[in-house]
Amino acid sequence: MEIKGLNIQNKAVLAPMAGFCDIVMRKAADNFDAGFTISEMVSARALYFGDKKSHELMETFDHKAPYGVQLFGFEPNDFVSATKHVLDHKPDFIDINMGCPAPKIVNNGSGSALMKTPEIAQQIAKTVVENANGLPVSVKMRKGWDENYLTAVELAKRCEAVGVSFITVHARTRQEMYQPGIDLDIIKQVKQAVNIPVIGNGDITCPEDAIRMMDYTGCDYVMVGREALSRPWIFRQIKEALEGRPVSADLTVNERMELLLWHVKQLCEVNGEYLGMKKSRGQAALYMKGLRGAAHLRYLTNSLSKYEDAENLVKEVLKENV
Ligand SMILES: Cc1cc2nc3c(=O)[nH]c(=O)nc-3n(C[C@H](O)[C@H](O)[C@H](O)COP(=O)(O)O)c2cc1C
Repeated sequence: MEIKGLNIQNKAVLAPMAGFCDIVMRKAADNFDAGFTISEMVSARALYFGDKKSHELMETFDHKAPYGVQLFGFEPNDFVSATKHVLDHKPDFIDINMGCPAPKIVNNGSGSALMKTPEIAQQIAKTVVENANGLPVSVKMRKGWDENYLTAVELAKRCEAVGVSFITVHARTRQEMYQPGIDLDIIKQVKQAVNIPVIGNGDITCPEDAIRMMDYTGCDYVMVGREALSRPWIFRQIKEALEGRPVSADLTVNERMELLLWHVKQLCEVNGEYLGMKKSRGQAALYMKGLRGAAHLRYLTNSLSKYEDAENLVKEVLKENV
């Protein structure tokens, strides 16, 4: 099932991840053919008050695949002006966060707390749809809040009723946070309950996981989060598998190190070298996952301060791993 108004060329899409899905990570995923990318979550209230940093989170680039901005909040009225601010950045769609489990988000009723208040959640979805100038609006939710509030099916139906174009289901409750193991049945139940496309999400680490989720649940797309941070080429591999083509190999160590240097350079261009190098430390560690020389390389990674330090790190990695 297609998502109306979006030209999606790959059924595997990038998950929004606060602190990670900045413009550079989204570019990496786009380069590796992710079906779409989404910004980090942006506070509707902060936009309502004209916060400049929130606008930086939405900045984008000349992307191939559709790009969405994700909003979070708890007060439907905040979403009137927030949606208008989002439109200034010309995204292809707007997503609403109903899944974030972090205490500072749920304590005021945002994120996955909305799974406990379906009326407010529906009002927020309606407000965004009414103010989005016809852009597709999506909702990303969890299975529920806990075993007493398994509200995904109800919420999905309510969202569909007010004009939401597609739903993503992260198949865990808020109580389960990120514990291993997901409930594929909840994705299946949501898919059977609505007539709009459904995206399944949770624990996809290889093409086989994606195929299993789609076959079992009937979901239309899959969303990949954590695995894509260290292996963004997973989008290309899932696309190949879903199209019945041979799956390309993982990047070689040399290719991974080229990607690492590309990423670091981009982070420096976007943020300036001082902040860019600080941000590079976490990302470099992700690209180096599983390589030999751990302790020594970890030290070099944690002290990245100049672009040359990254070049030096790559030399050390190649010395020990090729
Ligand atoms: C560090 C981190 C940040 C996240 N930030 C967001 C967010 O801003 N918005 C959101 O809807 N989900 C967020 N998530 C949840 C992911 O989008 C995704 O639903 C979850 O990680 C499960 O998918 P995965 O198993 O493929 O990682 C975040 C997850 C992680 C690990």
